[in-house]
Amino acid sequence: MAQAPQDQIAPLLTSEGWDLLASLGPYREDTSFELNSSLRKAGHSPALVSAVLTQSRLRTKAELKFGEFARSMLFTQAGLEQATRLQVAARHAERFVQAGIGHVADLGCGLAADSLALASMDITVTAVEMDETTAACATVNLIPFPNATVVHSDATSVPLDGIDGVWLDPARRVTSTSGTKRIWDPEAFSPPLSFVESLAASGRAVGVKMGPGMPHESVPADCEAQWVSVGGDVTEVTLWFNAVRRTGIRRAALLLGPQGAAEITSAEDFDGGPVAPVGPVEGYLYEPDGAVIRAGLVADVALELGGHLVDEHIAYICAPDLVDTPYARAYKVLEVMPYNVKALKAWVKDNGIGVLDIKKRGTSVTPEELRKQLLPAGKASSKGSKKAGNKTATLVLTRIGEDRVAIVVEPA
Ligand SMILES: C[S@@+](CC[C@H](N)C(=O)[O-])C[C@H]1O[C@@H](n2cnc3c(N)ncnc32)[C@H](O)[C@@H]1O
Repeated sequence: MAQAPQDQIAPLLTSEGWDLLASLGPYREDTSFELNSSLRKAGHSPALVSAVLTQSRLRTKAELKFGEFARSMLFTQAGLEQATRLQVAARHAERFVQAGIGHVADLGCGLAADSLALASMDITVTAVEMDETTAACATVNLIPFPNATVVHSDATSVPLDGIDGVWLDPARRVTSTSGTKRIWDPEAFSPPLSFVESLAASGRAVGVKMGPGMPHESVPADCEAQWVSVGGDVTEVTLWFNAVRRTGIRRAALLLGPQGAAEITSAEDFDGGPVAPVGPVEGYLYEPDGAVIRAGLVADVALELGGHLVDEHIAYICAPDLVDTPYARAYKVLEVMPYNVKALKAWVKDNGIGVLDIKKRGTSVTPEELRKQLLPAGKASSKGSKKAGNKTATLVLTRIGEDRVAIVVEPA
């Protein structure tokens, strides 16, 4: 049976457990069985060995979000899945620094990634967490910061006297006997959006991280909504109120990647903003970053590229020229065909295609299913096969008005 989170953490909070964890090198799945046996032979209890191996595995996994800091932090599986990446947490913290906020309460701090970023920028942090095991991990993770304190309590009832900023990352999942389930209603989050809004109404600087799929109509009127993507994956929308809201910005898309950061913003509300023209598939096809799409900034990007939408409801842009932009991936348009499986099969055969990348927007076609239909039996992988043709192609499936089309493109 899987160990409960408290049983995975408690054995580590002893000098034997802490020293043993520190003595292990990076976790390797292929040697974990042997390591388990040798630690048991050395006299450590089964509970401790299981806890150190679990923690060692989580630390290695956590390096994706926390880099080398992960090596001295404590994680639970659920806490790690929900934790903010350090790169993004640093952006959250910068807002409070720029607004001159001196003391921030992190209400529902989890493993304390956001608290850690705030504390590292010299802000006094009160990190509140109601789950006991998670609060214990947060306490360990904040040890290097004397300006941070963890409070094990319900965040909705802690006094906030003297605290001028509040950060929240509400839990968006519920755990029951049948497992963990994601929830979508902001009022079902813990704490709920109405609690966040009541804090904002008190005039404090408030930032809250929400799921990136938050519908525009649920975004409160008096905040800035900033969608964030990391390496092309949309991770969150953050709502900023009062002193941490930027003047003249209602919505934004912040793109973080190996090349650095890029941001596009709009002062207009979700139903405002520019309208892009609609035109033919030609020149270069641009696939906007998910954060741009979620923030409703596709038309803004189309105009910036000197381009047009291929359909007013679809987030594909075409422009005559190749423009270097951080907001969209560009593809050169090679051919446009009506969507027809038989004709596409013939096209695959005639062109000796063995590797087919299929993208789609605005159509219910399943790329994996279509790939199976188009490539000869046994060769339906996006990696191709020796027996199939050896050429690689990219197909974009979409809808223009009532017509379904297949666009042959190549990455530009
Ligand atoms: C999404 S996680 C926070 C992750 C955190 N930002 C991080 O990066 O590690 C939400 C946390 O809020 C806690 N939580 C939910 N409701 C709470 C409440 N009313 N009071 C205190 N903590 C709460 C949950 O136990 C969970 O650990």
